[in-house]
Amino acid sequence: MTFESVRNNPELCEQVKAYCREKWEKVSGVFARTADRSVSAEQFPQTWVMLMKTPEGNRVTGFYQLEEKDRLTIHTELTPFITTLFVDPGMHGGKGFGEMILNHARCVLGSMGYDTAYLCTDHIGYYEQYGFEEIGLDLTDYGQPTKVYITDTLGDFRYEVFDRKHPMPDHTRLAVYGLQHEVQENPAFLLWFLKNAAVTGQYPKFFTVTAFRGEGVAGTVNAMRSPEDSRSWYIGDLIVAEDCRGQGIADKMIRKVLTRIGRCAVGGETVCSYIEKDNEASRGLHRKLGFEDTGELKPFGELHFGENITTWIREI
Ligand SMILES: CC(C)(COP(=O)(O)OP(=O)(O)OC[C@H]1O[C@@H](n2cnc3c(N)ncnc32)[C@H](O)[C@@H]1OP(=O)(O)O)[C@@H](O)C(=O)NCCC(=O)NCCS
Repeated sequence: MTFESVRNNPELCEQVKAYCREKWEKVSGVFARTADRSVSAEQFPQTWVMLMKTPEGNRVTGFYQLEEKDRLTIHTELTPFITTLFVDPGMHGGKGFGEMILNHARCVLGSMGYDTAYLCTDHIGYYEQYGFEEIGLDLTDYGQPTKVYITDTLGDFRYEVFDRKHPMPDHTRLAVYGLQHEVQENPAFLLWFLKNAAVTGQYPKFFTVTAFRGEGVAGTVNAMRSPEDSRSWYIGDLIVAEDCRGQGIADKMIRKVLTRIGRCAVGGETVCSYIEKDNEASRGLHRKLGFEDTGELKPFGELHFGENITTWIREI
């Protein structure tokens, strides 16, 4: 199976438009207009065709389109979208071709520099299997309910969130231990904490964002809510593997932490970090992300911090 874009390929464009007319007539008008624009567009839209090699030549077996905005949603601030995805009915039935198309789209968008992608659908229950997360309900312009989903794109690094419902597997925890060894006074305590305090509910709102390169752990950060003040959050144990630094991993992990806290925020939430006064990398990172140095060391519940450290705070 291969994927080809119709960009600069009017012949393929005509082939896939005819295929769409035959297989999915209802959307073929809109699909054709977008496909035509894809032939000469520099960035968006894009029309990708899944092709199977046969003795008679390449046979179309599916397609998808990428748009900067989706005309179906009122969420005009979101970009980019995976749209009009179709797998040949002869290839349905758990063979994984839908997932293959989605992963191809996520790779294309990842290589264009996008971290996330969106999708609108009334096909409820399908995309969830592939890690798409619902972020809202919407109405199409013809009045039908649709859901808006978000997903990570695929690039050199993959990010995963672990929490009580989705605990970190032991092998990942050991890899995190290896990474933390260099900076933590007692990484074994952190390992215990990840498995016990966090998961058993001592800190009911606790999660970890971990970055992976292939199977290896490239970075990790923990976030937890204060047991005493439900609007007060702490970010800690942030680290990126030395050979992965300077590529935006910490930036992305903390943004993911902030987005997740923001999603369940009721208002007035603050997030704090504890940073050594001479840690220029971490100070620069937090400054870039809108944190401010309070100039003092404020306590966070029963947690104690060392010397030469100040508390940095940001509101959600
Ligand atoms: C701090 C740390 C997590 C940063 O990770 P990273 O993935 O390299 O950071 P990013 O690539 O996401 O950088 C994001 C921003 O942080 C700042 N930054 C990162 N490294 C920096 C450095 N060496 N000097 C100054 N600013 C730096 C920059 O503002 C950067 O944005 P830019 O690339 O647009 O300039 C990493 O250096 C690390 O693991 N250090 C050891 C552990 C540690 O100190 N943890 C923090 C404890 S509070």
